Amino acid sequence: MSNTTSDKPPIGVIGAGWVGLVTATCFAELGHEVVVREIVQDKVDVLSRGDLTIHEPDLPELLRKNLDHMTFTTDMGELLDRTRLMFVCVDTPPTYSGDADLSRVQTVVSEVGDSTEHALIMKSTVPVGTGSAIRRDKHDLAYVSCPEFLKEGTAVADFMHPDRVVIGADNRAEFPGSWAGDAVEAIYRPLGGEMVRTDIASAEMIKLASNAFLATKISFINEIANVCEEVGADVTEVAKGMGLDERIGSKFLHAGIGYGGSCFPKDVTALKQLAGNSGYHFQLLNAVIEVNELQKRRVIGKLKKHLGDNLVGKKIALLGLSFKPHTDDMREASSLVLSSRLRGEGAEVSAFDPVASERAAELLPGVMIKDNPLAALEGADAAVIVTEWPEFAELDLAAVRSTMATPLIIDGRNLLDGAAVAAAGFVYEGVGRPALGGDAEPTAVAASAAAE
Ligand code: UDX
Repeated sequence: MSNTTSDKPPIGVIGAGWVGLVTATCFAELGHEVVVREIVQDKVDVLSRGDLTIHEPDLPELLRKNLDHMTFTTDMGELLDRTRLMFVCVDTPPTYSGDADLSRVQTVVSEVGDSTEHALIMKSTVPVGTGSAIRRDKHDLAYVSCPEFLKEGTAVADFMHPDRVVIGADNRAEFPGSWAGDAVEAIYRPLGGEMVRTDIASAEMIKLASNAFLATKISFINEIANVCEEVGADVTEVAKGMGLDERIGSKFLHAGIGYGGSCFPKDVTALKQLAGNSGYHFQLLNAVIEVNELQKRRVIGKLKKHLGDNLVGKKIALLGLSFKPHTDDMREASSLVLSSRLRGEGAEVSAFDPVASERAAELLPGVMIKDNPLAALEGADAAVIVTEWPEFAELDLAAVRSTMATPLIIDGRNLLDGAAVAAAGFVYEGVGRPALGGDAEPTAVAASAAAE
């Protein structure tokens, strides 16, 4: 039995990718009738059965629960007939020039035709100026920029409890599409986030600037970590001390082996490119990108420090392959660069990931992917924690110690308790933390931390 209510307008979603599916399913959960248009028939068939093609916690249950008021179709006409508010969630991948490929967005715009009845609500990340370019051709089109801030792995919770909802729209009374901004605000209002009503270009910029700022924060703490390694400080202590300043905040100060995923790398490049295309050289973003690339490669230096300069034939086990935990997404994952570099050095690479193995197998030729952590660690000269899956913190260190050839752990995400790992007989090296165990010479900082 459908739990929709008549006061809730039907919602259209164009594109059943990750953003589209989360948006569609969550609006269905809020009681809206939802029609999803997806051009791939196979996906439509799978979704209509209540099955998902992506890994996202809570989404499978919500999809099945709300399937009775969700329709999946390849037919744009059905969407236009049954809905007025249509969320555009098609992908906008980078082109060779670094600009976003807007061909799918343009196709959708042309499919809507000259309708003044419908509103296009842009969720796809697009360059600043896209909205005004679309409206140059279609003066009367009700167009709203409503950028997406969902994080993979917590997308359902993020959708249901947004920090803010950004709505960029033309509200001039004389504009025929001015109803759309208020309509979007009304459907998001039950969620309780702060409403940011603004113009279209500013809304587009809020998305790019937010992601670029967060990426900058990560590259900044990664550089602090690298300096900490030189001077014997511990970046986890430093980040804690910094983060308590409310102006800085404690989030996104976790040092590691670089950010990845479908958004940060793409959006930082897109903003840099956008600035460049308009004649502005965004110097800071060049450094953010370069620091991130170098950070992925620093693991190789750490391995060489302990195993010697020649990694030919050395067995290296990678724990975690996805770009972050709780997802099987491999896009721009640090594991891609790291495993190719290791293979380039002549090392033998084995790996384990709790959910990304299948996707990773196609992308990591020559890497032996195992179905449990101990199998990946068997006979290894070093283990590298690439993704901070919580279960790696629960590994039985004695079992790990006896299966590995050399007890060396490089913790690329500062997941483990270094002192406990060293006490179990390992050499332990994190990111921005003094090495512990074996012949590693603990600095004063490490020694005092270990003594606590
Ligand atoms: C991000 C944005 O957070 C989200 O608002 C946007 O809509 C899409 O992009 P997501 O890609 O799901 O979301 O991942 P996020 O959790 O933000 O992490 C991005 C990357 O940064 C990961 O590779 C993660 O490992 C890395 N990261 C994050 C760090 O290295 N350190 C941190 O402190 C935080």
